[in-house]
Amino acid sequence: MMVVTAEETWHKSAALWSEAQRVFPGGVNSPVRAAVKPYPFYVEGGDGAYIYSVDGVRFIDYVLAYGPLMLGHRHPRVLEALKKQAERGWLFGTPTEVEVRLAKKILQYYHRGGMIRFVNSGTEATMTAIRLARGVTGRRFIVKFNGCYHGAHDNVLVAAGSAAAHYGTPTSLGVPGEVAGLTLVARYNDADMVEKILKEYSNDVAAIIVEPVIGNAGVIPPRDGFLKALREIADKYGVLLIIDEIITGFRLGLGGAQERYGVRADITTLGKIIGGGLPIGAVVAEREIMEYLTPAGKVFNAGTFNAHPLAMAAGLATIEVLETGEPYSVAEYAAAKVAEALEDAASRKGVDYVVNRVASMLQIFFHKGPVEYPEDAMKSNKMLYQRLHEELLKLGVFIAPSQLEAIFTSGAHHKEVVESTLNAIEEAFKRL
Ligand SMILES: Cc1ncc(COP(=O)(O)O)c(C=O)c1O
Repeated sequence: MMVVTAEETWHKSAALWSEAQRVFPGGVNSPVRAAVKPYPFYVEGGDGAYIYSVDGVRFIDYVLAYGPLMLGHRHPRVLEALKKQAERGWLFGTPTEVEVRLAKKILQYYHRGGMIRFVNSGTEATMTAIRLARGVTGRRFIVKFNGCYHGAHDNVLVAAGSAAAHYGTPTSLGVPGEVAGLTLVARYNDADMVEKILKEYSNDVAAIIVEPVIGNAGVIPPRDGFLKALREIADKYGVLLIIDEIITGFRLGLGGAQERYGVRADITTLGKIIGGGLPIGAVVAEREIMEYLTPAGKVFNAGTFNAHPLAMAAGLATIEVLETGEPYSVAEYAAAKVAEALEDAASRKGVDYVVNRVASMLQIFFHKGPVEYPEDAMKSNKMLYQRLHEELLKLGVFIAPSQLEAIFTSGAHHKEVVESTLNAIEEAFKRL
């Protein structure tokens, strides 16, 4: 196994990092990328489960671009679809056949018989879904949960304030209090709290938005009955339930969390996997809701790049491969093995730990009790996780640099890849 340290061998990455710090705020274009210490490795390319740095180091990739690469890097079917589309041209400002094909494919699994609007990111998808819910209901407030992330726009950059139980306070400068005040924050996995909020604001709540399995506070599964309770509460108060399947869609199986947990959204947001690694987002719902969107209705949405042909082609090829079922069995076997290895190694080390896993997403928390709520995740030993990330990186395994992200596996994480990961995990814990 190649053992390298950042300091010794990442010369090219170091040089690029110093240039990057002069041209990008914080050196990066999305904050989590700066969490790789002492600086991020710069990528030359990827293939299957591997990612190659400009310094010639190979890593087994368990970040997978934070979720989209369910087939791993450079899957031949996706590459072929991209090449074919690129040969024909890649942006026209007028519709293409492939957007209809991808829409019909997605609608086989989400809101069958419904409609879809393609946008360019998960952020745009949740922003549009919330506007749509407000347009449909004529109401102002939304309910979100602590620990759930829905993108980088004002309505959802909100967490519970300490002064008031559930009044939202902005988590970013630049989000006006008046905007954050329209977002009520409930506790994840606590349906009673949602009901209390809805009783109080009953006539003015447009939507509840939830990550069905949290992938942005580590991995936290829903408690038994939590999602179904949200469905019932939403119906009782005439509120729309937005299930944000931007991570879970096509990851927990073709039908995502809704299929897995037997729950139905009024509006589903998708992203990541449905673009096969190209920028994408989507809003999906029944026709009566979707027809509020422009130009059919009066809730505005538009985009120069909406339904970008390259993203459509990559997404369609990806889902066609996923339909064989094989990537799911490979990815879930790998995730189970990695989870088991983390548990064994942590237990041998004698540290407190919990591993949460749902299908091909998992995370380890250095924490005694169960991690059922995002508050539990916050209490875990983040320094120790950071050390684990660093040691694994030196051993050629790339896991999320932040405790609050997920470890993902893909259809390319075959047995040999898993075997070398297990050895690295054992060695990394010895060095902690
Ligand atoms: C559940 C969830 N929703 C929305 C988003 C935002 O998606 P994007 O980064 O494509 O804007 C993310 C991104 O990680 C996410 O995990």
